[in-house]
Amino acid sequence: MVHRLIYYLCPMLYRNGLKLGILGGGQLGRMLIQSGINFNLHHRVLDPDAHAPCKNIADEFANGKLTNYDAVYHFGKGCDVITIEIENVNCDALKQLELEGIPVYPQPHIIELIQDKGLQKQFYAEHNIPTAPFTLVEHPSEISERWTKFPCILKLRREGYDGRGVMKLNSREDIGNAFDKPSIVEELIPFDKELAVIVHRNISGEMRTFPVVEMDFHPEKNLVEFLFCPASINWEVAKKAADIAKKIAEALGIVGTLAVEMFLTKEGDILVNEVAPRVHNSGHHTIEGNVTSQFEQHLRAVLGMPLGNTYVKQPAVMVNLLGEDGHSGPAEYKGLEEVLALDGVSIHLYGKQTTKPFRKMGHVTITDPDLQTARKRAKQVKETLKVISK
Ligand SMILES: Nc1ncnc2c1ncn2[C@@H]1O[C@H](COP(=O)(O)OP(=O)(O)OP(=O)(O)O)[C@@H](O)[C@H]1O
Ligand SMILES: [Mg+2]
Repeated sequence: MVHRLIYYLCPMLYRNGLKLGILGGGQLGRMLIQSGINFNLHHRVLDPDAHAPCKNIADEFANGKLTNYDAVYHFGKGCDVITIEIENVNCDALKQLELEGIPVYPQPHIIELIQDKGLQKQFYAEHNIPTAPFTLVEHPSEISERWTKFPCILKLRREGYDGRGVMKLNSREDIGNAFDKPSIVEELIPFDKELAVIVHRNISGEMRTFPVVEMDFHPEKNLVEFLFCPASINWEVAKKAADIAKKIAEALGIVGTLAVEMFLTKEGDILVNEVAPRVHNSGHHTIEGNVTSQFEQHLRAVLGMPLGNTYVKQPAVMVNLLGEDGHSGPAEYKGLEEVLALDGVSIHLYGKQTTKPFRKMGHVTITDPDLQTARKRAKQVKETLKVISK
């Protein structure tokens, strides 16, 4: 407790060689480590996959289940600060570690709230944060009693990601195929655009947002295909989006990163779709495009440092490099040379040995003083670069 009091009064946690524990060893953890090296951090990573993308670049790599109390608790005991790169982790273990004086950012009670999309929606309702009208159901049989407006969207409350756990119910007849677990029923929003704002809040409560980005999704797979920065929206919408992101971060009292996914309606209103308490796919372009990257900003926030400038240095387009459909096995990158010959192209491969259809294998960022030029080049990248297996 004394330790906790000290760091609230004196937020600076940073010291050379500080042991940062990261729960999750995927690509997000990998990019956090790439930033953390510049701070001389010592990185300890926990992941259930023995070949996770962080395996070969972490100072220490532990193999274990992120949802297991003992695995998380024992891993955390040796760390100076703990953070996450995935929200599906054991929060009871993190709460215990926090009680024992180890700072955990984002705070475990916030991770716990965000793990449940139903609690998330209730939080928005309680804090007057605009979101699609919804109701919570324990079982599909409740849908027909409680919901009349079709088509609508059905979402699993827990463990949905990359669009898995989201379905459209076109009419009452579809209820027969609905998820058999606690879910949210919500209004289908005929949105104009999908936007995202990443906001950081540090230990002292300082906040900074990154400029709003616009996302284009794969029509079937619900994965981001292209991301554009800055979004083509007017300044009023941009301000509204940034203000909402800050309002949520402040209401949660989060320390670290909050990625806020939003819908821009045809009437120009913003509705919050969901939030993630971690670095996010919608901020990858910040590595090349902005003065400070989302990864460095996350570290600054959780280490009690001042936050960096988020200004756009150059417009950017980000393309997710997904495993080609029909290809599974050792990964090969077809068209890499051709793509690297284009101007302003930066490649990030995630260190995954094997590909499978639609697996996130890497991303490419294309920067250019003119966003339209970057857009055209991004299309070319998408058509040329393929992750295949022979
Ligand atoms: N109420 C809605 N109206 C219209 N489209 C929606 C609605 N809710 C979700 N969608 C669509 O489904 C996509 C996935 O939904 P959501 O972000 O809630 O799920 P997810 O599985 O957590 O996704 P991810 O992990 O990719 O962020 C959204 O990006 C959006 O395109
Ligand atoms: Mg989403």
